[in-house]
Amino acid sequence: MLPQEIIRRKREGQKLSADEIKEFVTGVTNKSVTESQVAAFCMAVLFKKMVMDERVALTSAMAKSGMVMDWSKENLSGPVLDKHSTGGIGDKVSLMLAPIVAACGGFVPMLSGRGLGHTGGTLDKMDSIPGYQSQPDIALFKKVVRETGCAIIGTTPDLAPADKIVYAVRDVTATVESLDLITASSLSKKLAAGLQGLVMDVKFGSGAFMRRYNDAKALAESIVSVANGAGLPTVGLLTDMNQVLGRSAGNALEVMEAIEYMKDCNIDDKLHEVTIALTAELLVLGGIAKDIAEARQKIETVLKNGKAAECFARMVTALGGPADLMDKPEKYLKPAPFIKDFYPAQKDMVSALDLRAIGVGIIEMGGGRARPSDVIDLSVGLANVAQIGEEVGQGARPLATIHAKDEADFLNMSRVLINATRVAGEVNASGKLVRARISE
Ligand code: URA
Repeated sequence: MLPQEIIRRKREGQKLSADEIKEFVTGVTNKSVTESQVAAFCMAVLFKKMVMDERVALTSAMAKSGMVMDWSKENLSGPVLDKHSTGGIGDKVSLMLAPIVAACGGFVPMLSGRGLGHTGGTLDKMDSIPGYQSQPDIALFKKVVRETGCAIIGTTPDLAPADKIVYAVRDVTATVESLDLITASSLSKKLAAGLQGLVMDVKFGSGAFMRRYNDAKALAESIVSVANGAGLPTVGLLTDMNQVLGRSAGNALEVMEAIEYMKDCNIDDKLHEVTIALTAELLVLGGIAKDIAEARQKIETVLKNGKAAECFARMVTALGGPADLMDKPEKYLKPAPFIKDFYPAQKDMVSALDLRAIGVGIIEMGGGRARPSDVIDLSVGLANVAQIGEEVGQGARPLATIHAKDEADFLNMSRVLINATRVAGEVNASGKLVRARISE
């Protein structure tokens, strides 16, 4: 069938057959379907939605658009595990989780994505490490996972190539916020990686694609059910994305924060809460720990004894990055040319943040893409960001330290921050960031 006929049928709200979906995805992969057709298809799905059968067919077709990894011949001494996030601002959990799991005896072949919509992407973060090969061939990918316990890379022409194409189009066509497309995109990568266990971090709040809790819960249920149905044991945690996770948002800045975390210095409580919760679920899913309490114990041990940091360092070196990154991160993570604290004029308490606006502000500073081919500025972003409930202004703490290319961008970002920050009034962050657990 012609791609435009498949798009028309979806535009009219009809149910697509598994064969039609497979044909469309094959066309995406072999490029007989154009980028504009991909964009139109995504917009039609976003508006008209898919039923469960279609969602399963889309996920499966995208997962099988390249090869599906098989770890059974690698003689690994532990389970093959991974986590995925539906996307947020300052979400650098993957950078710590992968080496922590590796240090505890698991193996993490992590296929991650670039920035999407207003959110940041793990792959862009890793690209801020000079020399790091984020798209190695399969042989190197396998070798690094086997020898260091983890490898964080991007989708490649071999692995989930359809997601790579659709993802890049969604990023710049306002077609991200679809339960169906997020389910298929997130899971296609994870199914292609040949995992034995997955934990999904499904975010809700002002910085998430699903702002409302109930929409995020529906997304978590969709992902958990499609993944388990495809034979991948999966647990979902619903986590709050109403404030930057940790203290930084921006590619190189987040790598710096992750390195400090792994070196067991400067650990932000909220970042720690989410990291530990997701990692512990994974250790239990993989049979590395018998329950969450034991898993937490193991995690604290490998953070304190430096084993997690060691695994990260070994992964970076094995993929071409600098051997002394952990000792001298400031030598490699390029600072932005214009760095300045931003204090609002009046001293007051942060009561809410529009994180989506802040994410868009970072993209406008050059930290994300307006077109798929854009080269991004990995050094820009925010550090030292205030959390809800903290007092900001002269005499208190800054709202954030802005890392920009020049003063004009600093001033623009200051305006974004002022408009995105509500001060005074009731604080709407209700303590714990991890709100619910979804399993089948
Ligand atoms: N992460 C993905 O990989 N895809 C999405 O659509 C959202 C988050």
